[in-house]
Amino acid sequence: VTTGSQQALALIASELERNDRVMIEDPTYFGAIHAYLDRRAKLIPLPVGDIERAGTIAIREHRIDLIHVTSAVHNPTGRQLGRAAGHRLVELAARCGATLVDDQALRYLADEPRPFLAAHDPGADVITIGSFSKVLWSALRVGWLRAPAPTITRLSARKAALDLATPALDQALVHHCLPYLDALAAHRRHQLAHARAHARALLAEQLPGWHDESDDHGPFLWVRTDLDDTDPLLDAASHAGVALTAGRTLTATDRWNTHVRFAVTTTDDALETAMQRLARAAGGSSPSEPAGFLHQVL
Ligand SMILES: Cc1ncc(COP(=O)(O)O)c(C=O)c1O
Repeated sequence: VTTGSQQALALIASELERNDRVMIEDPTYFGAIHAYLDRRAKLIPLPVGDIERAGTIAIREHRIDLIHVTSAVHNPTGRQLGRAAGHRLVELAARCGATLVDDQALRYLADEPRPFLAAHDPGADVITIGSFSKVLWSALRVGWLRAPAPTITRLSARKAALDLATPALDQALVHHCLPYLDALAAHRRHQLAHARAHARALLAEQLPGWHDESDDHGPFLWVRTDLDDTDPLLDAASHAGVALTAGRTLTATDRWNTHVRFAVTTTDDALETAMQRLARAAGGSSPSEPAGFLHQVL
């Protein structure tokens, strides 16, 4: 049990040496990027879900120490890695002698979750990480990590040096919720499906030049704007009380300046107001709104 799956990422990264080579999807969750860059690892971008390309990259790079994928519901694109692709990835990691990290933090948001990558080969060097943040409450800092026994022994010692243990009260609350988890997850998926559809419709109406490129899972829309650089827009949106995530923060490359990530985890009314304000900001007229009104909304 880890203090959020973010701690699991930090523990995994703590085993890396400077310049170790990490193949990681691009774009991806910024917490993973930061954990690896913090250890001065070299990040090698992999287009999301492109296992053929992973093979080509592995041959080109000669050495890959770790492969990191978010196979369940990818942040920010919502994509799921197919069963056959997952199998090929486990084989590839074994051929390269690389540790495979399977980030399953958003697993409960998948309608039909695929098998864990570790299930393709129980003897493989695969570390699976998970979280209760997306289905219960992200302020409950409870995640988990599953790995071969020697890895667990090493990482448990590191965790003990960091925080001794994940707070018992948070764990007790999660434990209390476990019997209801499937029902809560179904409810959450239903809420998010509605919110995504609503946000997509609003986007098409208010910002027709922008395109949602996400799959139908998870709490985000991954949107290609009609801008070369979204920074000025994000400043204007923030001024209008609307917070979005810049695509460039979800990559270690210089790509995705054109993209933004919308979190749809809010009410219909707030989404409507936020999208109107965003469209006004994109159109260049963005009257200041009361500070903080919609921060954290999108
Ligand atoms: C893909 C992914 N992995 C890990 C995390 C970390 O989550 P937590 O530390 O709350 O479990 C997040 C949080 O958004 C995430 O999106």
